[in-house]
Amino acid sequence: MNKLISISFLGLWTLTASAQQQPTMTEWHDLQVNEVNRFPIHTTFPQNNTISLDGTWRFLWVEHADQRPTDFFRTDYDDSSWATMPVPGMWELNGYGDPEYVNVGFAWRGHFQNNPPEVPIKDNHVGTYRRVVTIPASWKGQQIIAYFGSVTSNMYLWVNGRYVGYTEDSKVAAEFDITPYVHSGDNLIAFQTFRWCDGSYHEDQDFWRMSGVGRSCYLYAQNAKTHIQDIRMTPDLVNNYQDGTLEVKVWAVGSQDVQLSLRDAEDREVAHAVMNSWQESMPRQGGVVLQLTNPHKWTAETPYLYTLVARYGDQTVTQKVGFRKVEIKNAQLLVNGQPVYIKGVNRHEMDPDGGYVVSRERMIQDLQLMKRFNINAIRTCHYPDDPLWYDLCDQYGFYLVAEANQESHGFLYDKDTPSKRPIFARQILERNQHNLAVNFNHPSVIIWSLGNETTDSHHFTAAYQWIRQQDPSRPIQFEPAGEGANTDIFCPMYFAQWQCDEYSKDTAKEKPLIQCEYNHAMGNSSGGFKEYWDLVRRHPKFQGGFIWDFVDQALHGKDAEGRDIYTYGGDYNKYDPSDNNFNCNGLVSPDRVPSPQMYEVGYQYQNVWVEAVDVKSGCIRIRNEHFFRDLSNYVMEWCLLRDGVSVQTGRVDALACDPQQTIELQLPYDYRDDDAEYLLNVDFKLKTAEPLMKAGQTVAYEQLMVKPVQRQLVLNSPSTVKHQAQVKFDKTTGFINQYVVDGQSMLGESGSLRPQFWRAMTDNDFGASLHKKNKVWRQPVMKLLSLKERKKEVTAVYDMPEVQAKLTLRYQLEKNGIITVTQQMQTAPSAQQPDLMRYGMVMQLPYEMGQSRFYGRGPIENYNDRCSSQRVGIYQQTADEQFYPYIRPQETGTKTDIRWWEQTSENGVGLRIEADGLFCASALHYTVEDLDEPGEEKAQRHIPQIPKSRYTNLSLDQIQAGVGGICSWSDWAQALPPYRVPYQSRTFTFRLIPVIPE
Ligand code: GAL
Ligand code: MG
Repeated sequence: MNKLISISFLGLWTLTASAQQQPTMTEWHDLQVNEVNRFPIHTTFPQNNTISLDGTWRFLWVEHADQRPTDFFRTDYDDSSWATMPVPGMWELNGYGDPEYVNVGFAWRGHFQNNPPEVPIKDNHVGTYRRVVTIPASWKGQQIIAYFGSVTSNMYLWVNGRYVGYTEDSKVAAEFDITPYVHSGDNLIAFQTFRWCDGSYHEDQDFWRMSGVGRSCYLYAQNAKTHIQDIRMTPDLVNNYQDGTLEVKVWAVGSQDVQLSLRDAEDREVAHAVMNSWQESMPRQGGVVLQLTNPHKWTAETPYLYTLVARYGDQTVTQKVGFRKVEIKNAQLLVNGQPVYIKGVNRHEMDPDGGYVVSRERMIQDLQLMKRFNINAIRTCHYPDDPLWYDLCDQYGFYLVAEANQESHGFLYDKDTPSKRPIFARQILERNQHNLAVNFNHPSVIIWSLGNETTDSHHFTAAYQWIRQQDPSRPIQFEPAGEGANTDIFCPMYFAQWQCDEYSKDTAKEKPLIQCEYNHAMGNSSGGFKEYWDLVRRHPKFQGGFIWDFVDQALHGKDAEGRDIYTYGGDYNKYDPSDNNFNCNGLVSPDRVPSPQMYEVGYQYQNVWVEAVDVKSGCIRIRNEHFFRDLSNYVMEWCLLRDGVSVQTGRVDALACDPQQTIELQLPYDYRDDDAEYLLNVDFKLKTAEPLMKAGQTVAYEQLMVKPVQRQLVLNSPSTVKHQAQVKFDKTTGFINQYVVDGQSMLGESGSLRPQFWRAMTDNDFGASLHKKNKVWRQPVMKLLSLKERKKEVTAVYDMPEVQAKLTLRYQLEKNGIITVTQQMQTAPSAQQPDLMRYGMVMQLPYEMGQSRFYGRGPIENYNDRCSSQRVGIYQQTADEQFYPYIRPQETGTKTDIRWWEQTSENGVGLRIEADGLFCASALHYTVEDLDEPGEEKAQRHIPQIPKSRYTNLSLDQIQAGVGGICSWSDWAQALPPYRVPYQSRTFTFRLIPVIPE
């Protein structure tokens, strides 16, 4: 017999209750009724008298809203046939319905015509929950509040058979005063939640659309007659940012005075006040201003927190306080008077197993990764996060743009878009009020955001003005407002580098430029990031931006064959609308593995820089880009490399460099002017651990060229080693099809060495339609015109009619088995053809030749427009290590600025490649053809479904196109012009040099 049936005795109690309000059951499709009996929204305070509501609840799910049970809240209702559902827990990840992913368009796209305030009945799943909660006798006489952290999309609540109330705005806690409905002992809590309600017209964010309870829930008890209802604190800095003031406002029920004590991080009282003058309203309101001489200041670099303790009767409320001041002056955003850089990311709350349910550990993991990669700012896209997130950001030091749960993207931006209609006014305002009310006290929140992707209108003017009046201490931003009145910051999305440059140079522009979204990190992306940051560092008005976005939103799942995959939009069924893999734009994978582009971000976001002064004599300049901390906790290690090999190292322990200052250092190395290449590596490491960072961890690094070398290929260089080589050519293709040196085959079975002009299309390539525009280079017809051998030289000449080019492949064979290959393309003089994706060749080596050693940029894959973070050095990697599993298969593994590359088997047999200049290479156990999409549309593919190649595919490129990074959906998705591979005559010469251990 289950526990829930045994509660029917409660019915007796509820029958004695007096006549009560009933829901009209129109609330869920009425844009004007968004809450009934909701406990006023207030700052989140730690509660010490709580009963958790997390855990297993009885659960019933129906597919369509009109199938929902209507008497489930009765205490005598028999729920024994119901299933269970965890709280928190999303239905779609616990067996009910499928996760649906839509970017543009409401979740019912294609099945229901938008008709606000109506939402569909069909497919509008409804989940009904029941649970018995035991309330201790000690709570008798107290006010008891039910707190539901985040319920999507709405919530009707009943307690002990009686209707309590209704709420929307799924990303702000729903609280209800349930005191009149409960008693000591067992109480039945029942609630019903719709997948969609009228609030869904404001929750059209680009993310997984899920339903259920996303955050923890609990009951708490407080003194019914004497308690603080809300508390708002506004810190400020005065006397040239020296001294602190803290305005404290309290709303309280009861008649006593509030004792305020401000305590430092060691719990010593540094100020106190008694709040004893009250405005007699309901609740009463009081205010005081505390003063503090020269307090520790809060910044993301120095997140010093004080604690305000407010004692009121038997209640103690604590709030963290950070003294800081945010202003906009002279077209700059200032924190404590400094024009800080916003090294930001957007972060959705998303977990590959939990969906919206994100654990504390996961949050810490995210913040730890952010610290490691020098991210200092987060936009809570596109809704308020779990309250814990703000606490952690206060504690660890991050700047937040706190965004309201407001996005009506599905209405698009027509002149008379529905969101401008009067019926939408209330929700736009309310959602902004909620965001402010809950998050008011966090020092980490430095900017409010009115929401995302909803046409600007007088509704947002109302929201802007309301916030301005409630909180004059913080700037407000709103991307759709452009440069207009409803935003204090010009915060466009996906502005190209040249647009940022133009705006920043324009002296008539009065707002700082901080992109709310930029550098669309979808798949293999983030090219051109250096160009953005060169501009940020040049223009005072351009202060950074928030990358779209932090984490790939894919979920753990299985494909039809039972393989583990990361699922994205469209993987669950064909009925739901889907925007496919557009939710995989992260800098880290769903399991938080940094993607290759994260390294570029971490480097460009770093806070310590090194410049050459007279680098040959060891003189360098260190620039501290921090605004608030010196470099005393960093040690600098340096290393002089001669042709990639360390020849001298040293360290500098004392770096006396104040914020925003430079120092010059003389490194005692002894550089010799021989014919080698010399590079200087410099690393800054933490002396002692810092929060979320270990001692010894690298925080910044640099590489300076001390002396470059000109690279030339010398043919028939005298060699002491003699090898027996056999090279054969295929008469029909003209390609080498046998290359055996001392009995060792350098080609896998039926392998060859052939030209390659294509790559597996990245998401940005797709976005720029390069798969169509450049497709002639995918497999261009190569008609063999002649194949001739003369002395030790074989020449194959091809006609490439589709691209109006002639291609000549010349192979010069040397006695010791070396082959010098020249790939020469002659284009027709006036011909116009699209860009190539790469220019080079691919060699199919035996699978076992999977070991690479190379001297070039690494160790992380890099492209000509995303390589600033990768230092030139000698690296060793296997083919499998070179493969980064982007969720949708695409180009991966390339390294640029290669001086030489060795590709061998584990016992050292293979080839060394040198070229007539710096080149690009990768060695993968996959082919371009298999990684590439078979057709013109993305075909819902996942990495584990791609077959491994029989070969180690060694790609050698003279040049490969950059990956791009402005956005992933227009011409701008491709690399900036200097990083493309235009159609023109080209010659690439490289040598294959056998490597055979004695
Ligand atoms: C923006 C939007 C984001 C996301 C991004 C594309 O327009 O605000 O939520 O959709 O585009 O990935
Ligand atoms: Mg959107």
